[in-house]
Amino acid sequence: MNSHLAVAERPALPQRSDAERTQEDLQLLDTALSLAAAAGEVLMSGLGRSLIIETKSENTDLVTRFDREAEAVIVDGLRARYPRHRILAEEGGERPGERDAPLWIIDPLDGTTNFAHGLPLFSVSIACLVAGQTRVGVVYAPALNYRFAAVRGQGATCNGRPIGVSQTAALDSALLTTGFPYDRRTSPENNLAQFVALKKRVRGIRRLGSAALDLSLVAAGRFDGYWEMKLKPWDIAAGLLLCEEAGGQVSSWTGGPVDLYRGEVLATNRLLHPSMLAALSEVKTSL
Ligand code: IPD
Ligand code: CA
Ligand code: CA
Repeated sequence: MNSHLAVAERPALPQRSDAERTQEDLQLLDTALSLAAAAGEVLMSGLGRSLIIETKSENTDLVTRFDREAEAVIVDGLRARYPRHRILAEEGGERPGERDAPLWIIDPLDGTTNFAHGLPLFSVSIACLVAGQTRVGVVYAPALNYRFAAVRGQGATCNGRPIGVSQTAALDSALLTTGFPYDRRTSPENNLAQFVALKKRVRGIRRLGSAALDLSLVAAGRFDGYWEMKLKPWDIAAGLLLCEEAGGQVSSWTGGPVDLYRGEVLATNRLLHPSMLAALSEVKTSL
């Protein structure tokens, strides 16, 4: 590999027609759906069992053997089908592939705390990026039987049926969802001040414990909006595409593009985006 080549010197990627790209995206989607299903089976075999739980930090960030086994099923499946592709997965980190090849971003179990406590609110999240753009996203919640999927430019579905964001236009009637970072015990940047401020202004706020599911349920119009900070690329890559393809709007808390590696997200039904941005900007202090 010529990793020393400057961007301008790189050989041009082959140009693809729209039809070829659609065909390629559909193949990627097919792969994501079948590997999410396989990982979901692994997770369901562990749900409700007494688990050996390890903690990554502060007794809040957990990992079980099912996180690792579900990830292995997905990574092995990708390696077999697409040996050149790059992979970024939560438990094993980066697996190199060919430069400029598609990048798969995977959370094999989003909602480990729920899973470890026998609650059904968890999901498998798989996204595929081509040339830095998310083309395909799948979020599968096996215990709820929700299978969300999106292909860029082609809309979003749940269990094969098209989904769309809600029509709620006033913050006062909004049902929101959010989450809190694992370092909330020690870091003052912990989303608690934002939670308190918004809780007084909206119909309700839920904390599901799976960012991928939060985003999917905004896409499906069940929640009107979602915000969170300090997320990882594998928590959000697939769910953000679902929201966009379902007609929603996604941004950072200041309205800029979402940086997958910074992990500050606001996702809404679009109608509520200005008022949510204003509400978040009014929160000046941390608790
Ligand atoms: C977590 C969940 C949770 C969010 C955390 C994530 P994990 O992922 O998405 O909802 O609040 O920030 O880390 O650890 O269960 O894969
Ligand atoms: Ca996660
Ligand atoms: Ca995880």
